[in-house]
Amino acid sequence: MPSSPATRPVGVFDSGVGGLSVLQALRHELPHEHFVYLADSGNAPYGERGDAFVQRRTLAIADFLHRQHGIKALVVACNTATAAAVEPLRAAMPQLPTIGVEPALKPAARGSQTHHVGVLGTRGTVTSTRFERLRREHEDGTRFSVQACDGLAHAIEQSTEEPLPAAASTTKIGALCARYTGALGTFGLKTGEIDTLVLGCTHYVFAKEALRALVGPDVQIVDTGAAVARQTRRILAQAGALAPESDAGDTPVAPGRVALYTTGQLAALQAAAQRWLGLPAQCCAALPPGGTPI
Ligand code: DGL
Repeated sequence: MPSSPATRPVGVFDSGVGGLSVLQALRHELPHEHFVYLADSGNAPYGERGDAFVQRRTLAIADFLHRQHGIKALVVACNTATAAAVEPLRAAMPQLPTIGVEPALKPAARGSQTHHVGVLGTRGTVTSTRFERLRREHEDGTRFSVQACDGLAHAIEQSTEEPLPAAASTTKIGALCARYTGALGTFGLKTGEIDTLVLGCTHYVFAKEALRALVGPDVQIVDTGAAVARQTRRILAQAGALAPESDAGDTPVAPGRVALYTTGQLAALQAAAQRWLGLPAQCCAALPPGGTPI
């Protein structure tokens, strides 16, 4: 494990493979950082589990990444865990800079021409006090139609698992997306229609194609990966913990390394990392075995 503060890894975690959408944005924004990603797929989905469970998992994972990997900051790449647990986490580990993700209501409200924004999220996220507060902050002049998408994150997780045939899981994801976008209302650019769709769950980024086919080409689909990556850069810079881009002799340093761990099926994480991030299977490992159970 690299030990100087700036070269220590940034931890990233999600209930499963959804947070890989945030990791992708982080690697793009911060190519010199080392990342340790933990997919808690053995316990996914979080969205229908309740706050107490999500808080317990979040604190255990943060502690594990801190103790075992010496992370210098933690990105909670999960809207559900951010809503349920980011405050207890900051209270429990005040020394660890923590970056959460939340549905991008602010940019969506700013960009909407029809002033009608659709939001898809997990039940845990959209029924949270944190989401209600966020919604109240931005609903002046904007109507938010909000839909809890039970089962969608789970279907996206399953699409990476064996032996479910890919075609069957694509059909299942498509059917759930159709049900939930249909429940939101009519999409389009005419007065009263929804012209902006917020993906309030990091898994849903991987269903973007299905969603795009349903809402049409003119609707803005907004996710939070790039904004979270810029915020992570700011937090690391403030802490003086950005990884160096060149060495003392001004020679550019190599790109950062990525290590991925899962509490679920190793093959599923490998498939997701390869399919969505182009990462080789050797970057991935399963937990425990031999490690501390978390
Ligand atoms: N990816 C997660 C989120 O952003 C959670 C999905 C789930 O486990 O329900 O909310």
